[in-house]
Amino acid sequence: MEVVPLGSAEEVGALAADVIEALVRATPTAVLGLATGSSPLPTYRELVRRHRAGTGPSYEQVRCFTLDEYVGLPPGHPQSYRETIFAEVTDDLGIARERVSSPDPAPEGLPEAGARYEAALVEAGGVDVQVLGIGSDGHLAFNEPGSSLASLTRLKTLTDTTRRDNARFFDSLDDVPRHVLTQGLATIGRARHLLLVASGEGKAEAVAAAVEGPVSASCPASVLQLHPRVSVLLDPGAASRLARADYYREVFAGKPEWQGL
Ligand code: GLP
Repeated sequence: MEVVPLGSAEEVGALAADVIEALVRATPTAVLGLATGSSPLPTYRELVRRHRAGTGPSYEQVRCFTLDEYVGLPPGHPQSYRETIFAEVTDDLGIARERVSSPDPAPEGLPEAGARYEAALVEAGGVDVQVLGIGSDGHLAFNEPGSSLASLTRLKTLTDTTRRDNARFFDSLDDVPRHVLTQGLATIGRARHLLLVASGEGKAEAVAAAVEGPVSASCPASVLQLHPRVSVLLDPGAASRLARADYYREVFAGKPEWQGL
């Protein structure tokens, strides 16, 4: 795991955008794993800014998979994660909507929806770079504390903490769905490079538990410690509870240029 404490959320976004652009330049048919939530927004904005400025790669042949989806919202609801990802990043990068896959929450297909999503991921050859945020309780995607570290895409019930955290996107707390479809922790772990971005002190405790605490289902993001290629990009607030922050800075500052993230 490489932990990179940076100077601001914008620096986090710029470095994450560098990683994604380098991948798409090298592999125009790359498979991107996209997360929703506020954490990846500086990354998406930076990608879109560079794309509009004409300095970014072409994303026409890229395929995208989202991490998770609410169950119970009407199709096309603006807060569905599928619509959110179109609005925040893929439409603006010129990625056709049919090249963006997401778990299908249609009620009639729910029992098989997880298995179908797993099959689609395998058929696409797996995810090259997976962008991840982290919940304030250490959740990854919608894998709440207690989720099996070996879990695959399935139906989950949100905790009250997560519903409250996400209520800002809805008119009221009651409007936040209770159920979701989410990639499992093992599903996420199959992506070849995991890029976790976090900002703000509200994430500091979860980040410290994930990076420096024990590997445990009680902190789902701690499963990242088992993955061979993880980059954790943090603003000062998110890095503020790390015991080894100075060491991570020293490592990053001294990296040979050829090594990349
Ligand atoms: C949601 C998403 C997660 C995200 C988390 C944190 O629960 N399912 O993928 O990481 O929120 O969100 P934010 O980045 O807005 O803090």
